[in-house]
Amino acid sequence: MTLILNRENVISVLNMKDCMDAVEHAFAELANNTAVLPLRIGITPPDGLALYMPAYLKEMGALACKVVTVYKNNPSKHNLPTTIGKVLLQDPETGDVICIMDGGYLTAVRTGAVSGVATKYLARKEKNQVVGIFGSGVQAKMQLWGVAEATNISKALVYDISENAMNTFVEEMSKKLKIEIIKAKNPELLLDADIICTATSSSTPIFDGTKVKPGTHINAIGSHTPNARELDTEIIKRSKFVGDSKIACFSEAGDIMIPLKEGAIQESHFYAELGEIITGKKKGRINENEITLFKSNGLAIQDVATAKLIFDKAVKAGIGNKVNI
Ligand SMILES: NC(=O)c1ccc[n+]([C@@H]2O[C@H](COP(=O)([O-])OP(=O)(O)OC[C@H]3O[C@@H](n4cnc5c(N)ncnc54)[C@H](O)[C@@H]3O)[C@@H](O)[C@H]2O)c1
Repeated sequence: MTLILNRENVISVLNMKDCMDAVEHAFAELANNTAVLPLRIGITPPDGLALYMPAYLKEMGALACKVVTVYKNNPSKHNLPTTIGKVLLQDPETGDVICIMDGGYLTAVRTGAVSGVATKYLARKEKNQVVGIFGSGVQAKMQLWGVAEATNISKALVYDISENAMNTFVEEMSKKLKIEIIKAKNPELLLDADIICTATSSSTPIFDGTKVKPGTHINAIGSHTPNARELDTEIIKRSKFVGDSKIACFSEAGDIMIPLKEGAIQESHFYAELGEIITGKKKGRINENEITLFKSNGLAIQDVATAKLIFDKAVKAGIGNKVNI
């Protein structure tokens, strides 16, 4: 029997704290070589992009593949979202697909979760920190949730080029997290924050990296193609650069690939993978003044660990529909 979990089922069992624990474990497996993580496969049918993201986590006993598509004309042509995803979870012992679940909410939460984990290891450990969020879409909301779970924050500032998106963000997230959220009139106001998250759809730099204050931690999760970037060369040069995966950063992330191509940095500027910091193979932040930067491209290990967590919780709660395929 295969368990089918729709978006509501997933939402009802998935919370940020548990997702952060699962994702942290997955990154430790990656660093300890108990994870199998092939590069994602992309196919471009006429109207969009289809990505296949498989991974296996030996210790967690999790094997799955996410199928995610980006079809820009979906909203206008078919009244469907641009990005649609489903995860197929398998039993590692038999290989059988034991669960098919919606992957939209899962993707957003696991992306917030990895930023939460990076914040836990790399940001300064002070109370009442201020968070600056660039972008106010689906991912931006989860970024704030992940950071709020990881550290003690007093308030958040948000900046988006869309006034409507910002209004929705403030309404939803202040209710959810019970913190003060302020709409910033210009992006520069966010550069005073202790922790900055970039979660926009911009393909060009969104702030002046010379103006970021020492001690800041940045989670950069937007742009992930070689020619697009949210961060300028200056902030890359000033930061201790940690990535989710070195291979992914040097094959997908314009944020680091463009400064490398310009000759502004060497490949050795890539300091560590997040898993190396989690497992203590490399040190995280070493003083209060360094600027730490975490670049997230999004890895299948995050999806697989989160899918296993959702499945286990759903079975325990007795939710979803079982079908004989
Ligand atoms: N790293 C990962 O694992 C991962 C996972 C999913 C999505 N993403 C990426 O995250 C980004 C955001 O995704 P989303 O689903 O939230 O998209 P979205 O369309 O819901 O939100 C993006 C927001 O960015 C805003 N924006 C665009 N340019 C801006 C600028 N210069 N300054 C401020 N705001 C600006 C838009 O107005 C919009 O509100 C995309 O680039 C997406 O590809 C990354």
